[in-house]
Amino acid sequence: MPVERILERSRSGTDGSGSPLKRTLRARDMVGFGVGIIIGTGIFTLAGVEAQQHAGPAVTLSFLIGAVVAGLAAVCYAELASSVPTAGSAYTYAFTTLGEVFAWIIGWDLLLEFGLGLAVVSRSWSGYLAELFGLPTAWFGEDATVNIGAVGIIALLTAVAVAGIRESSRLTNLLVLVKLAVCVLIVAVGVFYIDTANLTPFVPPAQPPEGGGTVFTQPVISGVFGLEPTVYGVGGMLTAAAIVFFAYTGFEALANLGEEVKRPNRDLKIGLLGALAVCAVLYIAVSLVLTGMVPYTEIDPGAPLSVAFSSVGLPWVATLISIGAVTGLTSVMMVELVTIGRIGFAMGRDGLLPEAIGTAHPRWGTPHRMTIIGGVVCAIIAAFTPITALADMVSIGALAAMIIVAIAVPVLRRARPDLERPFRVPFSPVVPAITALACLYLMLNLNLDTWIRFVGWLVLGLLVYVFYGRKHSFLAKEADRDTA
Ligand code: ALA
Repeated sequence: MPVERILERSRSGTDGSGSPLKRTLRARDMVGFGVGIIIGTGIFTLAGVEAQQHAGPAVTLSFLIGAVVAGLAAVCYAELASSVPTAGSAYTYAFTTLGEVFAWIIGWDLLLEFGLGLAVVSRSWSGYLAELFGLPTAWFGEDATVNIGAVGIIALLTAVAVAGIRESSRLTNLLVLVKLAVCVLIVAVGVFYIDTANLTPFVPPAQPPEGGGTVFTQPVISGVFGLEPTVYGVGGMLTAAAIVFFAYTGFEALANLGEEVKRPNRDLKIGLLGALAVCAVLYIAVSLVLTGMVPYTEIDPGAPLSVAFSSVGLPWVATLISIGAVTGLTSVMMVELVTIGRIGFAMGRDGLLPEAIGTAHPRWGTPHRMTIIGGVVCAIIAAFTPITALADMVSIGALAAMIIVAIAVPVLRRARPDLERPFRVPFSPVVPAITALACLYLMLNLNLDTWIRFVGWLVLGLLVYVFYGRKHSFLAKEADRDTA
């Protein structure tokens, strides 16, 4: 019975005896990791872009909607991560509840989310660095032909991630403090420059998009109902909610560290919900300040927050924001790399990827092979692909994984009612059902183009599974042994 075997394998690593990964992280490190990976390009760049393009001041409500959906999903993650603490998180939950094919799809989907997330953030980092030091745009930022800045930072951080989780965690905690300080500065200073006229009307009336738009650039849900493409209004606010969901992605990475926390029960729960709460409060406050300081039609899409402060005669705050963005984005990339390593490690250990990927480094205790492969592939993508082509893909990938996680909660309760659950989702299966529907609804607010690319990635993954994973997985090998 696969459920029994997978649980046995996952849980054998939770008492410190069966897992080659080291148990070194505390609750404080978990919140640090969480905030470190969550706050990034989403608030520093996408908040301004979405206010200007889709939602106006109502982007604040978009962040609120995103927080509610992410919070619901985090509650589901907390139950699964505390009952099946393992390096694969959503991937392993899918394995234990829905079987190997679903597990593969989720693992493949998470590699997309974190891999492209890393590429997006590295390019955004490169752009802020160029702004700070006046570096050549031929090599840094969105106009670069080959984005050397993005490639360089990924290479550097890959080396740190391979050297060990303890070092990564220390670096992350330090960078997170700088990022938090900058967000607080934005709110504390910016609040005195809010002009309430900029916030009225809070939800601007819907209007046709510039250039008309096509069926590929229209949210799937409005296409299904045969609606004309529009921006702003309630529809625009919902589209922005789906896109700025990117800003909350990453909290799931904490669940991957189940095999590395000192006390899985307590530290995981505090890490997931604590980090998300801190980020939600900051996002809502920062987006309100931004849209209050600058009329939404005049927000700069490149460096919205820095330019807002320059425009009210505070260049020193603008410089501090750029410094905060560069340091803050570094910690996001760090945790993303760590997560890519751990997902690949879990998939390699189960035989769905080559076994060599599922072994930890004997001295450093890190999944070094997958971390290096992830770093190299992401650096190549980041060198050549623009941010706009990647960000929506991260949101759709994250939301799809969250649907599976929500479904896994009641399914695992039925399959293994005896399992110890230090944290339980209240009112299951109602809350998991609401979570899955809310994630699906946000996905439907993304455009057709994003859906087509996402389905293409999943089909590619299924082909890899059919021609490799299915034959090499440890379940397949066990079945062979049983029949021999
Ligand atoms: N949530 C991360 C960000 O906003 C990926 O950059």
